[in-house]
Amino acid sequence: MPSETRSAARLRLLIPEHEILARVRELGAQITRDYPEGPIYLIGILKGACFFLADLARAIERPVRIDFIGISSYGKGKSTSGEVKLTKDLDCSIEGADVLVVEDIIDSGLTLNYLVHVLSQRKPRSLRVVALLDKPSRRIQPVDLAYVGFQIPDHFVVGYGLDYAEEYRNLRDVCVLEEAG
Ligand code: PRP
Repeated sequence: MPSETRSAARLRLLIPEHEILARVRELGAQITRDYPEGPIYLIGILKGACFFLADLARAIERPVRIDFIGISSYGKGKSTSGEVKLTKDLDCSIEGADVLVVEDIIDSGLTLNYLVHVLSQRKPRSLRVVALLDKPSRRIQPVDLAYVGFQIPDHFVVGYGLDYAEEYRNLRDVCVLEEAG
């Protein structure tokens, strides 16, 4: 991100790290109860879900398998381009598996709809979605979310994996990115 862009924006704390981690532990406990046997195939959507997946996987007390899929829809802007593309496929088959898609944020729902369509054709035994953040006011396509960490209002958020033009992913808190002035 160009330095002039970064200096023209400021961050407002929305969800502090301790609240994120407490909620992730709750989600992990709920998922542990819902999948008494395992293994659970956690599929993280690159890149935003990487921190959430890492914490959630350790909060689940069942065997898990981890894989990642790359899907891009945003480019460098703040809103969806409407175009979804696969940038990296899974390494392994999910046929017959209990799959849990791990997303950082659901906004328009376009990314998730595309992904659910792609994955369901591969015949998993079950296919559910866990999202850390949900912005229901922005929805263009309906999505079925089994687990949600936080519903948030329509602000552009960064941190805990979420970026703006690849910046801010390593913030520990989820913050609103506000324009200065
Ligand atoms: C973001 C986010 C979701 C998607 C949600 O990904 O991580 O995957 O957008 O938006 P939607 O509901 O409107 O489709 P992005 O394309 O920014 O990639 P990134 O995770 O690498 O930042």
